[in-house]
Order: sequence, then structure tokens, then C-alpha cells
Amino acid sequence: MDEKNITKVLVSEEEIRETVARLGAEITATYQGLERELMVIGLLRGSFIFMADLVRRIKVPLVVDFMTVSSYGDGTVSSGDVKVVMDLDSSIEDRDVLLVEDIVDTGRTFAKVIRMMRNRNPRSLRVCTFLNKPEARVVDIPLDFCGVHIPNEFAVGYGLDYAQGYRHLPYVGVLQPD
Ligand code: PRP
Repeated sequence: MDEKNITKVLVSEEEIRETVARLGAEITATYQGLERELMVIGLLRGSFIFMADLVRRIKVPLVVDFMTVSSYGDGTVSSGDVKVVMDLDSSIEDRDVLLVEDIVDTGRTFAKVIRMMRNRNPRSLRVCTFLNKPEARVVDIPLDFCGVHIPNEFAVGYGLDYAQGYRHLPYVGVLQPD
């Protein structure tokens, strides 16, 4: 589990900074003049680094909450079986909610979480992803805020894992497992 298995850099640290700044500005513009704080909800574990960077670029009052869902287990192929491992702490009823993901791949995870969230009657619900892999899409997802399109390769780093490793890489790279 080390960087020798990274065959190429997909999103550099500089591109990450620029992308997060752009998304923060778009989100700030969208949510001007809210009556209550924006609720920014990160899907763990993958989104934790992106969330931390993103919220510091959003210039409207906000609160954060997290939900842990799991779809991949420790493999590289999506099983389509999405589990809620840890639910939100707070109610989203009648709140403006922004869901934050590190990557939308097949779309199954986000589709299921969006459906669940809508059933809780938020005032508004928008979604933001740092990475988007359109070629891998199985379920169509409307993305309100979208960072970088990447090819259909196995990406790790900046929160994304392989067997729970590599999340701490400060860039996104392609992994060639041993
Ligand atoms: C990853 C990622 C997304 C999901 C995307 O989560 O964080 O939630 O897969 O794939 P999909 O669009 O094909 O559903 P994972 O279940 O690996 O957990 P993690 O967030 O702990 O990395």
C-alpha cells in the first residue's frame, strides 16, 4: 500500500484547490439570503477531506452533519448494495440541504441516499460531488454542483480509498493494485 502503485495523477493538488474554490463560489451564490443555516451533509467516509475543504469556501451560514453509507466493501467493484451504517444526528425537515459526495460512479449510492433524504421532507435538496465518472453511470443523477470529470479508472486519494488505504494522498491518482 504505497505510492509506487499510483500509475498517474488524475487531479493535482492545484486543480483540487481551484475546483473547490469554484464549487464554493457556486454554492455561495446559490444560497444567498437563506432564512436558516444551510445544512451541508457529507457521506462518509470518502467525503471527509473534500467536505473540510469545501465548507471553508462556502460564505453563507451553515451547519454540518454526516451519514455513513457503504457500497463497495473492500473491493473495487460496486455491489449496488448500499447500507446505512450511521444516520444523521439532526432532522432535515424543512431545511435547505446540500449533500456532498467524493465521487459519483455508478450513481447507485447517491440515488439511494437522495431518495431517503427526499422522504424526510427537506425544504430544498441539492447535490455536490467532487469527482464524476459519467462513463460508469448506471443510475441517472442530477448533479447541481460538479467538480472534475474523470475517466473510468480506479481512483484513490483525497478521501477515496482502496481497502481503506490511500485516502490521505493529497491528490487523486489511478491505482494499479499488486
Ligand atoms: C464510494 C464513494 C461513493 C460511492 C460511489 O463509497 O464514496 O459513496 O462509492 O459509487 P457509486 O456511484 O457507484 O455508488 P464507498 O462505499 O466505497 O465508501 P467510502 O465513502 O467509505 O469510501
